[in-house]
Amino acid sequence: MPLSALERKQDSRVPDEDSKSGHSGQPLVVLGIETSCDETAAAIVLREADGRGRVLSNVVRSQFDEHRPYGGVVPEIAARAHVECLDAIIKAALAEANVGLADLSGIAATAGPGLNGGLVVGLVTGKTLALAADKPFLAINHLEAHALTVGLTDGIAPPYLMLLVSGGHTQTLLVEGVGRYRRLGTTIDDAIGEAFDKTAKLLGLGYPGGPEVEKAARAGDPSRFPLPRPMLGRAEPHFSLAGLKTALRQRAEAAAPLSDQDIADLCAAFEAAVCDVVSDRVGRAMEMAAGAFTPGQQKWLTIAGGVAANRKIAVALSTLAEARGYRLAVPPPSLCTDNGAMIAWAGAERLALGLVDGLDFAAKPRWPLDPDAPAAIGAGVKA
Ligand code: KG4
Ligand code: ZN
Repeated sequence: MPLSALERKQDSRVPDEDSKSGHSGQPLVVLGIETSCDETAAAIVLREADGRGRVLSNVVRSQFDEHRPYGGVVPEIAARAHVECLDAIIKAALAEANVGLADLSGIAATAGPGLNGGLVVGLVTGKTLALAADKPFLAINHLEAHALTVGLTDGIAPPYLMLLVSGGHTQTLLVEGVGRYRRLGTTIDDAIGEAFDKTAKLLGLGYPGGPEVEKAARAGDPSRFPLPRPMLGRAEPHFSLAGLKTALRQRAEAAAPLSDQDIADLCAAFEAAVCDVVSDRVGRAMEMAAGAFTPGQQKWLTIAGGVAANRKIAVALSTLAEARGYRLAVPPPSLCTDNGAMIAWAGAERLALGLVDGLDFAAKPRWPLDPDAPAAIGAGVKA
């Protein structure tokens, strides 16, 4: 049953609008730990007394080499790799920022959504450090951390619209405040990054697939292989990528054996179709979000997740934003992809509001940002 507005306010993870119990008047230094997928990351972020953020260190180790032979992330291998290097990464983050555990205002770790084994590694490490150093502990929703990143990078305050596009997530969100999110659209099948990765695998390109497809597409003709644009023009704001992926496979099979030019043309066709779909779906989210902004208020569209690194998608979104009276904010790639700084920043924002978590907080492999959002028809495992 959906929570009423009153019940939502009583959720301890959602701040009271007039919360005065936090630490917003003082500078906060927070350690953030991220282990939800295939990046082991730790960072130190300073939140100034006036709410501005500064990254003091941001250490990330990607597990591409471990997963490359399998063409995708293998959960067991990911968890083991986190165990092996997380301590050293945290040590490096503290050293680079020139702070010790005693200097921290709080310790934040990703608690979900993500792969359970990896989440447990980061969460238990964060809790143990918090217990040993007697610091507040913050269990962070990974999606919330992506959603709040533009506050750290660009000082943008809610409300704003957000497109989150990674290997595991494809969502449009209205960010109303810390802890207050309205999910507008989601994918009813594959995430966009996943579709890029599967396309690369099908065409014999490397892993991760997004950058490989983008590189190959540069030499391609997007019009040679016609591909569908699933959900285009539909009133429901959701995404669907499965039909596009199937159509691409059929085109590739029909053209086999594939030359380099065939591969380039298929990649260009795929990328062009994704751009059209993203523009259309984000445009629909903008229509739905129209009432959230007061007249004359600057409307921001922000983007996060690994797919945000795609140049063509960024250009398509920038064109859309301009046409609809929005400004587009894209954090630097190192803060769009998974990282510890966004976890530390979300922790600092929560700490500033007086929100802390108990050491009994369990990992949540599924943890939607907006539990009230109606399920998209056919929606499967995506949070
Ligand atoms: O956010 P991220 O680093 O990790 C998570 O999935 O959480 O996103 C990785 C995804 C992969 O699917 C990768 O193929 C995709 O982002 N990606 C791209 C590009 N760079 C990374 N997709 C399209 N174009 C790119 N340039
Ligand atoms: Zn992510």
